[in-house]
Amino acid sequence: MKKNVWLKIGSLLVLSLVVLSACAPVAPAEEAAPAEEEAMEEAPAEEEVMEEKLAVGIVLPTKDEPRWIQDESRFREALDAAGYDVEILFSQGDSAVELTNVQSLISKGVQVLIICPQDGTAAAAAADQAAAAGVSVVSYDRLIRETDAVDYYVTFDSIAVGAQQAQYLVDNVTGTGNPLYLYAGAASDNNAFIFFEGAWGVLQPKIADGTFVIKNSSEAVALQDKAELTREEQSQIIGQITTNWDFDDAKSLAEANLTATTAADKGEVFILAPNDGTARAIADAFGVDPDVTNFYVTGQDAEKASVQYIIDGKQSMTVWKDVRTLVSDAIAAAVTLLEGGEPEASGSYNNGAADIPAIQSAVVTVDKDNVKETLIDGGYYEASEFTGLE
Ligand code: BGC
Repeated sequence: MKKNVWLKIGSLLVLSLVVLSACAPVAPAEEAAPAEEEAMEEAPAEEEVMEEKLAVGIVLPTKDEPRWIQDESRFREALDAAGYDVEILFSQGDSAVELTNVQSLISKGVQVLIICPQDGTAAAAAADQAAAAGVSVVSYDRLIRETDAVDYYVTFDSIAVGAQQAQYLVDNVTGTGNPLYLYAGAASDNNAFIFFEGAWGVLQPKIADGTFVIKNSSEAVALQDKAELTREEQSQIIGQITTNWDFDDAKSLAEANLTATTAADKGEVFILAPNDGTARAIADAFGVDPDVTNFYVTGQDAEKASVQYIIDGKQSMTVWKDVRTLVSDAIAAAVTLLEGGEPEASGSYNNGAADIPAIQSAVVTVDKDNVKETLIDGGYYEASEFTGLE
């Protein structure tokens, strides 16, 4: 299946070559591209790869999280294989830098912008400027909110991400009165709400029936009898349990929660952690609390460091989002938009201003039992990148 996807993308890119060579050229990428050199070295000599400027620019949120470095490498792999040179810029967690990046790409003549917003609402300004300049906007992984200047949204099934995290906790719990600690992503990221919504849908009945007892959010306790929460209610809870997608914030919040609770609130605990970076930080905090005898902690992204934590028994699970699929969907959408077409959508997401046509990919739960089979045998990572694999 993977091969078919790549063949399809490859042929789409080749087909578009003629169209693309007529597009305004983009200035040489500022970013050093070691991945490009590696790919060129590996490429068989007879398959001469032509370096063409693709009139597409990519903006990613930050280099400080392995998740987005992973996306950068997968974009470079795919684009190098197709012989394209595309500029990839990082916003370093700053919406002002993001806007400057977008303006710079517009001035260089990109015709399609693939952007993962740092702050979904703040990025509306960048999308509006791109649209005003005639540039098509593809929202990547995170949805840009409150503007109709978004042509397409490429994402994973984020409800399933939260639901699978929660299901893992449910599958491992027995009896009643089990301590539950909830953590969420950044309130500026629309995904944080969707992940939480997915998790709440699975956890809430198990909170209502007494299986779990929430230990670190009075707002969540106040709403625990509600099966469905409004965005405002989600906001109230997320305001108390946000990690801001930041490892340090996650660790400090977990430590503060552990200080505020007593030994009776600990023992074997269940922790909803929103992603791998925060999961490792939270696991480190819970792991050194003498009153915590055992803990289950969720994650997402299958970051290498968390795969190692899972092998070592320090993180219970992750939700693997195969970034190669997201990248290939984004490139295919960009090529269709460059050709003046409408990318195929499997549904839509309302961003507060419009229904944005979207395509979403499935996600996979990974724990100690299937980590080797899923991520290593499946070729996503090399066995040599980890220790202790059986
Ligand atoms: C992404 C996650 C990522 C998180 C923090 C979310 O929008 O979907 O994969 O871990 O942001 O960067």
